[in-house]
Amino acid sequence: MMSNIEIPAGLKELLQAYTVEVLRRRPPDLVEFAVQHFTRILESQRKDQAAKKHSGKRARKGVTFDTKSDNPTKDDEEEEEEEEEICTTGKFNRRVSVCAEAYNPDDDEDDDTEPRIVYPKTDVQRRRLQDACRDILLFKTLEQEQFSEVLDAMFEVLVKPQEHIIDQGEDGDNFYVIENGVYDIVVQKDGVSVCVGKYDNKGSFGELALMYNTPRAATIIATLEGSLWALDRATFHRLIVKNNAKKRRMYEAFIECVPLLKSLELSERMKIVDVLGARGYKDGDRIITQTKADQQDNTEVEVACCSRGQYFGELALVNNKPRAASVYAVGETKCLVIDIQAFERLLGPCMDIMKRNISQYEDQLVALFGSSVDLKH
Ligand code: CMP
Repeated sequence: MMSNIEIPAGLKELLQAYTVEVLRRRPPDLVEFAVQHFTRILESQRKDQAAKKHSGKRARKGVTFDTKSDNPTKDDEEEEEEEEEICTTGKFNRRVSVCAEAYNPDDDEDDDTEPRIVYPKTDVQRRRLQDACRDILLFKTLEQEQFSEVLDAMFEVLVKPQEHIIDQGEDGDNFYVIENGVYDIVVQKDGVSVCVGKYDNKGSFGELALMYNTPRAATIIATLEGSLWALDRATFHRLIVKNNAKKRRMYEAFIECVPLLKSLELSERMKIVDVLGARGYKDGDRIITQTKADQQDNTEVEVACCSRGQYFGELALVNNKPRAASVYAVGETKCLVIDIQAFERLLGPCMDIMKRNISQYEDQLVALFGSSVDLKH
């Protein structure tokens, strides 16, 4: 009976490779892992097919490359490499035509007609991904449709303790959102590796190299087993970098008139705009919750009121202490938010001003309660 059943060519190899990967990586969910594993194979096959087509197109469009330089520079080579990557998603038409120019997000007129990367996900996976992405500031200013495209394009990466997800100095491939796990941020300073912080079961990293086309600025090492969601460089560019150009236009004028940021260079202020997210609140919403241990009772007293251009939430970050006060929205409110890693990386030059202003909080508290309060220690 069995001799009549023909085993399709390649089936044995496919299943063997999947089994080997399962034994190697020991995933918690075999079905989810199978979806990822076979999707990767499918993508790789598509990439090969696209690369074949691409080599034909490249020959036809050779003039674009030939006119740039007889001796390809590193940038030329990088562009070519990037095109290979873009081929995977069928984007090579556009990139061939813009390869010699600086990236201008507004040039991407044909974006909407291009095939999108979609990694199929189970309902459970999609829900987990949505949860992980809920507070990611870079996604906070995306339109619903763009956000949905981002979710489609993300793929799961399981990591082991001591695994280097990113190495400082390398080229950027993906942007990562943390679903779980703890990750050290290590920066080389004068030849010495310093752990400058960590991500603890939330947050995202790897945006800088993709946004500014620079080498990776830090090494990220998993300290525990963990799970990440990755977004490839091409999709990050198409959706996030393009959205950042819009953000710059929207918030440029506002950021210019925030007193705290006046001492920064324009380029430094724009880097803040690139990483910030917008959050809306309704009247009475609690934006920050006081977590200070010495709360004696639940009575709350209003100590100050902030308005347009002012800031709050810095005290706990400067002091590395629990939140010292709660903050509530008065009426419909919109806040621009940056996360702690960006705060530490970008607001160093404003630290003195913020520390000076902490004394004003202490004065306010003395005026209200009559006794002195030390918020700095
Ligand atoms: P990228 O340079 O692409 O890769 C390393 C990532 O580490 C970087 O993007 C940031 O997302 C993240 N990071 C967190 N803290 C720092 C820091 N202090 N300096 C540089 N990168 C940091």
